[in-house]
Amino acid sequence: LAQNYTERYRPQFHFTPAKNWMNDPNGLIYHEGTYHLFYQHNPGGISWGAMSWGHATSSDLVHWEHQPVALLARGYPDNITEMFFSGTAVFDAQNTSGFGTDDKAPLVAMYTSHYPVAQTLPSGKTVDANQQSQSIAYSLDDGMTWTTYDSVNPVILNPPAEYSDQIHDFRDPAVFWHEETQRWVSVMSLPGLRKLLIYTSSNLRDWELVSEFGPVNAVGGVWECPSMFRLPLDGGEELKWVVQISLNPGGPAGNTGSGTQYVVGQFDGKTFTPDANSVTQANWVDWGPDFYAALTFGGLPVEDRVDIAWMTNLRYGGATPTDPWRSAFTVPRRLSLRTINGKATLTQEPILGDADYSSTHWDTLPAGSTKLDFTGKALDIVLSFPESESTQFGVIVRASSDLSEQTQVGYDFEKKEVFVNRTVSGVSGFDDTFAGAFSAPLELTEGKVTLRVLVDWSSVEVFGGAGEATLASLIFPSDGSSDVYLFSAGGSTNDVEMRAANIKSIWVT
Ligand code: FRU
Repeated sequence: LAQNYTERYRPQFHFTPAKNWMNDPNGLIYHEGTYHLFYQHNPGGISWGAMSWGHATSSDLVHWEHQPVALLARGYPDNITEMFFSGTAVFDAQNTSGFGTDDKAPLVAMYTSHYPVAQTLPSGKTVDANQQSQSIAYSLDDGMTWTTYDSVNPVILNPPAEYSDQIHDFRDPAVFWHEETQRWVSVMSLPGLRKLLIYTSSNLRDWELVSEFGPVNAVGGVWECPSMFRLPLDGGEELKWVVQISLNPGGPAGNTGSGTQYVVGQFDGKTFTPDANSVTQANWVDWGPDFYAALTFGGLPVEDRVDIAWMTNLRYGGATPTDPWRSAFTVPRRLSLRTINGKATLTQEPILGDADYSSTHWDTLPAGSTKLDFTGKALDIVLSFPESESTQFGVIVRASSDLSEQTQVGYDFEKKEVFVNRTVSGVSGFDDTFAGAFSAPLELTEGKVTLRVLVDWSSVEVFGGAGEATLASLIFPSDGSSDVYLFSAGGSTNDVEMRAANIKSIWVT
């Protein structure tokens, strides 16, 4: 693959396909020392189309190597009869599926088969035009090539009979092994009903519906890409379950676009029971406009949960001005569950490679903007500051020399919110809500605010506090806009600490 990765807007440390369209992360799994990242991909164009599973691998979650398409739309390019929609992958260590050989246990992927045309399948099952069913495929070479289970697929043809009107909207299975019950569990969605269906299986082939969950909390749009995982609470012995659900529209950003929510609770192998205080209002995984279809890696220890999302909004995901690829993933984010204000809350920490950080301290920064010597388009900036005279304090990134173009990230002491303002961040005409400001609630910790700001050519990701308030936001500035300022509004800000670095390209070439 010829790569230069210096095209306008090309992220340097966020994953992008070399070219063409990408949407959801799929089949994230750590296996035999390698992180596998599959993704919804149209290998034939820069818009959503012949949905296939693209593939990339990494040994450290930081540097990625592109691999050949793993599951290519059947009949590609001219006569497509099956598209491979979103799903997940598991390592079937005990060969419960029987797809393995004596000396090789299989990886098994479960995904949604989207059938654009009515047909009778090789398994003898018949499907409607645009029907969605759940299928499986296996790999005997550690995820590099896959064989679809054509003699039986789909393994779940339809949702239960009472939802038979939903057969065109039934998708996104997320599979995992449930140790206590010694069963596979798969969570999938009936998007229009805002309902999750939970199935279990002993062999990944035969599935039984055991419970349903939803609708709860954010229901302003369809539910897609559900998943379920465990995390230790406050780093201790107690484990809690988290359900992560994407919805479109009805997200946090002005309720007009897409977003991702989560619910914390218990799961007994069959039924998910939410904590009472987790179903009183939407819990957003990220408060920015650009965080969708998030999925965590399987194959890692329980305390090691890493989430990756498609960094865009369904309002304009098909219209962002990049070429010859479209869309990026967020940085991988290590998840924790911490009790904050009496409630189990997700916190997130970005995973980045090494960089040369330098630290600066200011006894006081006066009201107004202070230009820094530090500049760049791919940056990691960590700011820590106490409440003082100012009403707002933060950083301006991707600024043009006259400041007419800029993106602000800051903290509002009156509202107790961290915010990203991309009103004048650059190109925005492809969507009439793009040029806006977005915020997340954040309390001070020991009298201080900590903001970590990742800037990468065409995005800003903010982690506030211990990572309990995050905002992912795309921006499309002019090439020359690379100045950085600190700003203090309404008075001066004292005792400001900054740790910052330029981040290098992650691409293995
Ligand atoms: C979410 C989604 C999924 C579906 C996939 C198709 O973005 O709509 O529900 O499986 O994209 O590409």
